[in-house]
Amino acid sequence: MILEKDFRISEIDPRLYGSFVEHLGRAIYGGIYEPGHPTADEAGFRQDVASLVRELQVPVIRYPGGNFVSGYNWEDGVGPREQRPRRLDLAWQTVETNEVGVNEFSDWAKVVGAQVMMAINLGTRGVDAARNLVEYCNHPGGTYYSDLRIAHGYKDPHAFKLWCLGNEMDGPWQIGAKTAYEYGRLAQESAKVMKWVDPSIELVVCGSSNSAMPSFAEWEATVLDIAYDEVDYISLHTYYGNRDNDTPNFLARSLDMDRFIGSVVAICDYVKAKRRSSKTINLSFDEWNVWFHSNDADRRVEPWSVAPPLLEDIYTMEDALLVGSMLLSLLRRSDRVKIACLAQLVNVIAPIMTVTGGAAWRQTIFYPFMHVSVYGRGVALQPIIQSDRYDSKDFTDVPYLDSMAVLNEEKEELTVFAVNRNLRGSLELSCHLRGFQDYAVIEHTVLRHDDLKAVNTAENPFNVVPTSDGSARAVEGALTALLAPASWNVIRLKSTRR
Ligand code: AHR
Repeated sequence: MILEKDFRISEIDPRLYGSFVEHLGRAIYGGIYEPGHPTADEAGFRQDVASLVRELQVPVIRYPGGNFVSGYNWEDGVGPREQRPRRLDLAWQTVETNEVGVNEFSDWAKVVGAQVMMAINLGTRGVDAARNLVEYCNHPGGTYYSDLRIAHGYKDPHAFKLWCLGNEMDGPWQIGAKTAYEYGRLAQESAKVMKWVDPSIELVVCGSSNSAMPSFAEWEATVLDIAYDEVDYISLHTYYGNRDNDTPNFLARSLDMDRFIGSVVAICDYVKAKRRSSKTINLSFDEWNVWFHSNDADRRVEPWSVAPPLLEDIYTMEDALLVGSMLLSLLRRSDRVKIACLAQLVNVIAPIMTVTGGAAWRQTIFYPFMHVSVYGRGVALQPIIQSDRYDSKDFTDVPYLDSMAVLNEEKEELTVFAVNRNLRGSLELSCHLRGFQDYAVIEHTVLRHDDLKAVNTAENPFNVVPTSDGSARAVEGALTALLAPASWNVIRLKSTRR
């Protein structure tokens, strides 16, 4: 492998390490919010959960959905709690109590140091509700909706900068799903008017729900053709699973993510060329993760209960490896992927789990996400990698070594992230560090487990944890390390000049 200081991909947008909290299952109720919990603050937010979220250093959190948003009346969640209606949530077949709404979520986001990425309902609603919500959240005062916010106890505007124009509007499962043309026009008009209310906001238009949708590519091209001038980003979503227990194939799925990103970049640039536009549309990968463990259990959940356990995947060691590789895919295209949201954050396909009334703990996937969020700030460098490769059911030429590097110029720190996809063999990493001759290894953290199906649970929360006992050494610009089979590695180097 070669790492060269001048092979720069891009300055990484910190919003690449965003996450997502939906009104779904126990994400809000029993997750971030649980009045009466021993750690709850005055507002009812669990401090144990908030402190784990802070460990992840998540800069932006998408809210309130997801599929939920396509049937949501934002007005239900503001004002006196005792007057808020209980509603059927058709997306997840539950009852929404509306105890938490946009104001409480904004308060909580501040507690965890994140911005809110607010989604509007383009399923059952449209331009009017969207412009009113922007006015409620972002207008200083002196108008109906801004004064309503002030009357609700929020003198200062929330000033949300990033907004999603609906969610997965191509999906038949979506409340109010639309054709690309119907959605494109609605997104365009909503976007136009939202920016009239607050010209400083940035907007994400919905791409396809995933790259396997029959209308994928055509959907993106049509929607962008219509709404190109009004929007700033297009969304991508993907979830992977290992249903057939074929781990080499599962670990190769990040190659699909690479391909997906490349295709959406190409579509954005095709529309740009067609319009002779000087504007570039960037990507918001605002839902990504592993999701499959909970699928069967979810089919057995009684409808119309409040905050039932839903989508509660318990993640394995091998899931953490794929999540690591998916993070490397995002870094690899950080020139165009400016926003990404790990879906989700608490209890629902999440790095953080809770027992209602009990403890909170870190899942296996917590660790690669935290490592890249904490140490992956700065400039993404393009490594030149030579690695043995393998073929799997759906992929050919899969490199055993998956790696990316990030240079933090201010701190003079270089971090090499690496997955060894080889389940049985160690991998001898040998890397020429060009321009980093004076850098030395300060830490080599490893996440591995003899059992690829090992998990963390409430009873055994520290079963899969990283250790700092990796073998990496750097001497005069030569970095060497032995990467354990099926391992996630974080090799941190620092200049010795000061
Ligand atoms: O994150 C879970 C769900 O996955 C979201 O609500 C939806 O947007 C996607 O299908």
